[in-house]
Amino acid sequence: MTKEHKTYDETKLISGGRDPESNFGIVNPPVYHASTVLSPTLSDWRNRDPMKDIVYGRMGTPTQKSLENATALLEGGDKAFATSSGLGAITVALMSFTKAGDHVLMTDSAYNPARSFCLNVLAKYGVETTFFDPTIGKNISSLMKENTKVVYAESPGSLSFEMQDIPAISEIAHEHDAVLMHDNTWGTPLFFKSFDMGVDVSIHAATKYIVGHSDAMLGILVTTDKHYEKVYRGFRSSGQHAAPDDCYLALRGLRTLGVRLKQHQENALVVARWLENREEISQVLYPALESHPGHELWKRDFLGSTGLFSIILNKHYDDTSLGAMLDEMDLFAMGASWGGYESLILPGSPIRSATKWDPEGTLLRLHIGLEHVENLISDLDAGLARLKAASKP
Ligand SMILES: Cc1ncc(COP(=O)(O)O)c(C=O)c1O
Repeated sequence: MTKEHKTYDETKLISGGRDPESNFGIVNPPVYHASTVLSPTLSDWRNRDPMKDIVYGRMGTPTQKSLENATALLEGGDKAFATSSGLGAITVALMSFTKAGDHVLMTDSAYNPARSFCLNVLAKYGVETTFFDPTIGKNISSLMKENTKVVYAESPGSLSFEMQDIPAISEIAHEHDAVLMHDNTWGTPLFFKSFDMGVDVSIHAATKYIVGHSDAMLGILVTTDKHYEKVYRGFRSSGQHAAPDDCYLALRGLRTLGVRLKQHQENALVVARWLENREEISQVLYPALESHPGHELWKRDFLGSTGLFSIILNKHYDDTSLGAMLDEMDLFAMGASWGGYESLILPGSPIRSATKWDPEGTLLRLHIGLEHVENLISDLDAGLARLKAASKP
């Protein structure tokens, strides 16, 4: 690619992390399985640089580096680290920047295991966590303490989908010399450019859209040169390892991320708009809808919306009624995770400590897959009819 041309994301998705010329012309990087990496001479052994060279399987194979380079390129970061899972990426990020006596500010809408890690693990090592209202914006300044080292955001929030003003939070965090971490799993490196928005460490559960086929567990941390060394030390000390086959699957997933996300977005918007008009539903929590309270922030900061959102039903339904709807769904299946090609549906209950979560009805989280949207709508239509019939007094 000549320098005079802007390299578009679609092109980065295809060329990032690939070097066919050094692999016999083979299009995809090979899968390297490795623990031991041999040094030809003593001098080579003595001079290995684990931050640059391939030195040991746990610290990364060429397959892993390809994935890391491609992801960093796409998101606009300098360096990336692949971990065994998305939660692994979260824990490495938090451990890399905290020590006993430090304080973490975490959004109240964070993915629940991230909260649990702070409360059950970091707390044991003398790190205190305060949860904040996801819509706090600049007012986060009132919560910053002398010892606040990390501000942890997730926009939109898990299950409840509040949008956060990431640039405003970044400005305040940086004024106080704290780093801003952001779980960008929903936005992906394609639809949310973390480093243009002031994020220092971007966290991805690559298990979701990057892998995209529900068949591998993987996390990726992306950061800047400024913070690279700290993340590297945390990553290296944690024993994290990304399996070579899973890195390969994530690289393969990345190549089609653009076309998949366009379709997830298109389908999700049609389904979300259709759901908005149903009497059984009181709210559709999808930031791309004009009715979403965070819509303006989404429009300002994101380049697209993906396929995950929640709905609030018009009342609280018991499991008999919910079962009547969910057990018989044809295309929407029940199961943890999201970001694969298939549609999913699950009831959920956000855990809160700093803000109130008291919706008028049951929350269902939907992942809108790549099936034909008309089929998805008829599946939901039939499901809502069963729900209504089962809950008749
Ligand atoms: C927003 C978010 N972050 C992180 C994770 C954790 O990813 P993993 O399941 O790969 O550990 C998840 C998983 O559901 C998630 O939804």
